[in-house]
Amino acid sequence: MQLARRIQQIPPSATLALNAKANELKAQGVDVVNFGVGEPDFETPEHIKEAAIQAIRQGFTRYTPVGGIPDLKEAVCRSFQENLGLSYRPGEIMVSCGGKHALYNLFMVLFQQGDEVVVPAPFWVSYPPMLMLAEAAPVIAPTREENGFRLTAAELKARLTPKTRGLILNSPSNPTGSVYTKKELEALAEVVLEHNLIVISDDIYDRIIFDGAAFCNLAMLGPELKARTFVLNGLSKTYAMTGWRIGYAAGPEAAITAAVNLQSQSTSNPNSIAQKAGVAALNGSQETVARMVEEFAWRRDDIHRRLLEIPGVTSTRPGGAFYIFPNFSAHFSKLTPKPGQTSSQCLAEYLLEEAQVAMVPGAEFGEDSCLRLSFATSRERIATGVDRIKEALGKLK
Ligand SMILES: Cc1ncc(COP(=O)(O)O)c(C=O)c1O
Repeated sequence: MQLARRIQQIPPSATLALNAKANELKAQGVDVVNFGVGEPDFETPEHIKEAAIQAIRQGFTRYTPVGGIPDLKEAVCRSFQENLGLSYRPGEIMVSCGGKHALYNLFMVLFQQGDEVVVPAPFWVSYPPMLMLAEAAPVIAPTREENGFRLTAAELKARLTPKTRGLILNSPSNPTGSVYTKKELEALAEVVLEHNLIVISDDIYDRIIFDGAAFCNLAMLGPELKARTFVLNGLSKTYAMTGWRIGYAAGPEAAITAAVNLQSQSTSNPNSIAQKAGVAALNGSQETVARMVEEFAWRRDDIHRRLLEIPGVTSTRPGGAFYIFPNFSAHFSKLTPKPGQTSSQCLAEYLLEEAQVAMVPGAEFGEDSCLRLSFATSRERIATGVDRIKEALGKLK
C-alpha cells in the first residue's frame, strides 16, 4: 500500500527499537545488561498511585477539559513558581499525553514549511523527525565534547539564516547529561533576542540535577525571553511515571491555545485518572524525588569512574538526567561496519552480541563518536555491564 509521503521519511524511534531488541534477547533467556532504557528504574510513589485509585473509585473517568483539568494546571503553575520562580497563568499551560505529545503539538503550531529550527547535537532522537512532520527543517548544530556538549553563542550564530525561526535547548540533556549554566544561557539569549528566535526549552530532566547545581532556563532570564520561550516538562522522569503519559508545556497564551486546539482534534484530553495522579505528584511530598536523585548521583559517579578506567574511553561528567555519553572512537579503527552502518552502530551491535550489553549508538543522537548508557539500572548491573564492555573492547584487535 502506498503510504503518505509524510511518514516515509520518518524512522521509528531508535531508542525504543533498541530496547525492544534487548527485551527480545532477555525473553530468550539471555542475561542482557540493558543500558538502553530511558526511564527511571523506580516505582511510581504510593501516594500518587493512591490518588489514581481514588479517582477511579470516585468515577473521575470521563472526558475532561482538553488542555488539562483546572487543579492540575494550577499545580503546574505552582510548581513553576516554587521551583523556578516562573509565573504562569492556567491559560498559558497545556497538559498533553506525555511531554513528547506536548512537544509535537507545539512544533505543529509554531513551525511550518520554509522554517529552519536549530537543534544542537547531540540531540534527543525525536526532535528532527518531529520537526520534519511539521514540515520544518531541522538544522543540526554540532557542539564539542571539550565544551561539555553545550552549544555556544558562536556555534548558534554559525547556523542562522534568514529562515531560522527556532532553537531547541535541552538541559539536563538526553543523551549527554549536560547542564547549561546561567552564564552560558545569557550568551545564547543575546543571539535569540537579536535574531527574534522562538525557543523550545525541553526541561523534562530539570529536577534530576546533581552536585547542588542551580537549574536555569531561558524563560528565567527575563520577560523578553519568557515571551518567546516555550517550557516543556512532564511527570515521566521526575516521578517515575513514564507509562502514565502526562506532560505539559508553558508559554505565550495564543500559541498554547492553538496547541490545545490541535490537541482537541487529535487525542482530546490526556487520561483523566493520570491527571488526578499528576495533581498528587506535583502537590504531594517531594521526598521520593530527592531520594531518587541521590541514588542517580551515586551511580553517575560510579559509572563515570568505571568507564574512564577503560583504555581509550573518554567521557564528560553528567550534571543531570540519568545518561552518560562516553566517547569510544579510539576503538573504531578495529571495527568493520556493515554497509550503511556507522561506527557507533557497529560497536553497539558488537557489544550486544559479544558482551550482552545494550547501549544506544551515538549516531542516533547526531554524534557518532559516542554511545549512550542509561544508569537507570541497579548499582550491581552497572558494575557487571561496564566490566563486560571493558573485556569485550579488550578482545578487539
Ligand atoms: C529529552 C526528552 N524530552 C522529552 C521526553 C518525553 O518524555 P515523555 O513523553 O515520557 O513525557 C523524553 C523522554 O525520553 C526526553 O528524553
